[in-house]
Amino acid sequence: MKKDFLDIADLTTDEVRALFESAKDLKARQKRGEPHEYLKGKTLGMVFTKPSTRTRVSFEVGMFQLGGHALYFSPQEIGLGKRESIPDVARVLSRYVDGIMARLFGHEDIVALAEHASVPVINGLTDLLHPCQILGDMLTILESRPSLYNQLKERREGKFDNLIVTFIGDGNNVANSWATMTIKIPFTFRIACPEGYEPDKKIVEQANKSNVGRVEILRDPAQAAKGAHILYTDVWASMGQEAEAEMRRKIFKGYVIDGALMQKAAPDAKFMHCLPAHRGEEVTDEVMESPQSIIFDQAENRLHVQKAIMVKLMGKR
Ligand code: CP
Ligand code: NVA
Repeated sequence: MKKDFLDIADLTTDEVRALFESAKDLKARQKRGEPHEYLKGKTLGMVFTKPSTRTRVSFEVGMFQLGGHALYFSPQEIGLGKRESIPDVARVLSRYVDGIMARLFGHEDIVALAEHASVPVINGLTDLLHPCQILGDMLTILESRPSLYNQLKERREGKFDNLIVTFIGDGNNVANSWATMTIKIPFTFRIACPEGYEPDKKIVEQANKSNVGRVEILRDPAQAAKGAHILYTDVWASMGQEAEAEMRRKIFKGYVIDGALMQKAAPDAKFMHCLPAHRGEEVTDEVMESPQSIIFDQAENRLHVQKAIMVKLMGKR
């Protein structure tokens, strides 16, 4: 049966571990210039109803490096659910391509696409989740904390080195996928957000019921930053929320990662952002450009982790 990747919750902890192993191997091979054409002759259809830089480029380049081909459909094409129904698009594309990556608004739309497609569907972001981002981000954290990576690799029990990832800002798709990751790997995901902007309630409940990691919701950024190993943020208004941008600027004022907040985190803390960033809003220029910032390592790891996902879902089955 074909397998999709719509949500980190779809994966077992063993599968998450195997994806990291595979991503590290693919990354090393690419750096050594070794061919790794596991998807030779295969095509990925990429359906976008929102803009993108990293997701589009990393999937397209990833397919090329794996010996395959990627087709880009911009928000002006296909007209998912308007020009043609989602089930029809799913069935038509399945006759041409070997996998579909989609960036859509409603999460229910990607669920419908996957239900009607006979090829694997990968979530390149919905209003609810951004699972590829958080897989790449976790790989980045593990790379900068080798003891943590070995703990995961060797399946050692315990509270995973007490890792604390603190997110400052909106409980959006990126925050929701972070919360989901605590179901698979034992660490603390702590968010400081204004009231009414928490991550999805069901996801948080599920995460805290799992008893693997935990999700903490706080209001005060300074309190949330205390002792954190990672300070993470994202834009105050996500794609599709442009009309709320002005209002959100007022609501999120103060939910900013600046030099003073970084000082409150652990001494070796890193700064992360899924990008694109709005410098001067959720983060200062100083933090973006500081030696603690690992934002471009994160961006690069999207490529390696997504290649691992595509090999797993679209390779020989
Ligand atoms: N982080 C991320 O998904 O970037 P894009 O929106 O540019 O794809
Ligand atoms: N939360 C942001 C993430 C962009 C990668 C958005 O949905 O626009």
